[in-house]
Amino acid sequence: PDKLKIALLGCGVVGTQVARLLTEQADDLASRVGTPLELVGIAVRDLSVEREGVDPALLTTDAEALVAGADVVVEVMGGIEPPRALILRAIEHGASVVTANKALLAQDGPTLYAAADAAGVDLYFEAAVAGAIPIVRPVRESLAGDTVRRVLGIVNGTTNYVLDRMATDGLDLDQAVKEAQALGYAEADPTADVEGFDAAAKAAILASLAFHTRVSIDDVQREGITSLTADDVAWAAGTGHVIKLLAIAERNTGDDGTEGIQVRVHPALVPADHPLAGVRGAFNAVFIEAEAAGELMFYGRGAGGAPTASAVLGDVVSVARHRVLGGRGPVESSYADLPVLPAEAA
Ligand code: HSE
Repeated sequence: PDKLKIALLGCGVVGTQVARLLTEQADDLASRVGTPLELVGIAVRDLSVEREGVDPALLTTDAEALVAGADVVVEVMGGIEPPRALILRAIEHGASVVTANKALLAQDGPTLYAAADAAGVDLYFEAAVAGAIPIVRPVRESLAGDTVRRVLGIVNGTTNYVLDRMATDGLDLDQAVKEAQALGYAEADPTADVEGFDAAAKAAILASLAFHTRVSIDDVQREGITSLTADDVAWAAGTGHVIKLLAIAERNTGDDGTEGIQVRVHPALVPADHPLAGVRGAFNAVFIEAEAAGELMFYGRGAGGAPTASAVLGDVVSVARHRVLGGRGPVESSYADLPVLPAEAA
């Protein structure tokens, strides 16, 4: 192709940065892909919102028409609908899809994977888990020849920031959440962060990939951080621990001998000398135990516009290269069904 048309769905904290990077780095991206990437439009709900550094001529409220003419559709709107319908429409039109939508993948990933597989197009979602940290590709591809035993993750920047501020500055939960919102880390509704829904969605996605099975957010046992006080955090420090909101996915054997996996999100006491204890502020980290690889840790910025946009752009380059050179990325529709065990079996 003499160029690839990129449609961007959403222009919030992440979308603005994706648009900026696509424009500012156009020459570098063209040389990495082998053909220019042209941002042809940005679908938004409200045209009147001021978006710094974004060409207003690119904005449209007609997402359906935008999707129909694109080679690559980048979805950073968030929420289940309309993103779900738009992604399915993009796939139907033969577009490659890049999404950061953890809630959608955690709720209905298998439908999207199957649609992409049937249409023979790429569906990439590195930004859906732990922002800038390359974690989806390593789990989806690099570890595909190994057997993962356990995944432990700090995958929500807001709660890690909040717990950190409570520990170091004695802030209360509400104050710290307000700061996280001002810094652009929190979800539109921070309940998703503090009640653990955001981490549970990411846990479901990681567990699906790590254990080659289907885990939805409804399979994840979940407890957030709202009942924690500055006193709890201080008490933990006194015992040589740090309280972290952990996403945990592990292989286990149920009471009846069934092999399966368990996935949960809850505040946990992490010994101060564990690598996860040193993860400060809005940083994220994912610690993996695999049979042949042993222990691995992935660390970096898990929230914020530019870090998340970095992961989105990496996916755009990958799927664009496939369109230029041929080939496809991984396909998830042929998972084995390793069962998710009930909580009591732990
Ligand atoms: N609200 C999320 C977080 C953003 O705090 O980690 C990244 O998914």
